[in-house]
Amino acid sequence: MIQEHFNLRPYNTFGIEVFAKRFAAFSSIEELSHFLQHRDGDELLFLGGGSNVLFTQNFDGFVLRNEIHGIEKVEETDDHVLIKAGAGEVWHDFVLYCVENDFGGIENLSLIPGSVGASPMQNIGAYGVEIKDVFVSLEAYHIESGEVHTFDKDACEFGYRESVFKRKLKNQYVIVSVTYRLSKKHTINSSYGAIENELKVMGVDFPTIKDISKAVIAIRSSKLPNPAEIGNAGSFFKNPVVEKEVLENIQLNYENVPNYPAPNGKVKLAAGWLIDQAGWKGKTFDTYGVHKLQALVLVNYSDTEGSKIFDLSTEIIQDIYQKFGVELEREVNIY
Ligand code: EPU
Repeated sequence: MIQEHFNLRPYNTFGIEVFAKRFAAFSSIEELSHFLQHRDGDELLFLGGGSNVLFTQNFDGFVLRNEIHGIEKVEETDDHVLIKAGAGEVWHDFVLYCVENDFGGIENLSLIPGSVGASPMQNIGAYGVEIKDVFVSLEAYHIESGEVHTFDKDACEFGYRESVFKRKLKNQYVIVSVTYRLSKKHTINSSYGAIENELKVMGVDFPTIKDISKAVIAIRSSKLPNPAEIGNAGSFFKNPVVEKEVLENIQLNYENVPNYPAPNGKVKLAAGWLIDQAGWKGKTFDTYGVHKLQALVLVNYSDTEGSKIFDLSTEIIQDIYQKFGVELEREVNIY
């Protein structure tokens, strides 16, 4: 059913009230293709979990929400399983399904908001794991031709929070399912400091994937606001990748600036650290601001207009550039 003047507030984790000219939810490729026949020249916007978007104004077009469900095992050997999941599945529910069934590989990605379809779109990552590590292929609906195409890992051109679907093929495809290779004999990835500490607190010496998932849930819940309580879209900015000289300049004043090696001799800095050092952490402007416990997350406490949060992000970008000579890039999609 196509609905008009539709309030998108329940469909974006920032909880911003804006209206779409038209809205429909689809649970199959047939439904999707049916709705697209009624596009009438409208601009399209596909939403999954709505956890990586900031609306700054009403959307004068057709919003289509992906609700394609289903999880199936497509192959199994002694060592691994291939699991195909519908793009509309809630990501964390899918992680829990895998952990419960003792399929390993994505336990470090517990509690990331969003849907299965968004996982390859921006190559989600946390605590030393990225989706590309377990990715096999995806199926995507080509909007113009109505054909379903299969993309393997190379074709997705994964990068840090990047894929071909955010670049060259932007707005051309709708991801309908994703297939992951998960282990039955596990490689536990607990090297990330915060996980090691949490496992100690839990009193666990030889962690299972269930323990890792529990540890990650505990860490994320302690630092990141729950969108059901405080509107937010996770990390608002990407961690910037800069030339070594930029790091060296910052080190003149801050010896302990966190930094991580990046490809081509560059270094990745922690945007959260930069924003924190610049004094923004916890800053609140009546109904919105910078989260108190993680400076990378902008929050909507109640009824804020998205444009105010966008303006705050612009101020932060300018301030960080002035103070550190580093240009932050937004991770969240702005509409
Ligand atoms: N830091 C501060 N102050 C802050 C936040 C961070 O000083 O307010 C410092 C930390 O002490 C640490 C460094 O910055 O030295 C990095 O912080 P952290 O390990 O918490 O991770 P992050 O770089 O802030 C990234 C991802 C998160 C992911 C975590 C854990 C991005 C943009 N963000 O955050 O992903 O959960 O690592 O792996 O890459 C998301 O994308 O929505 C997200 C939450």
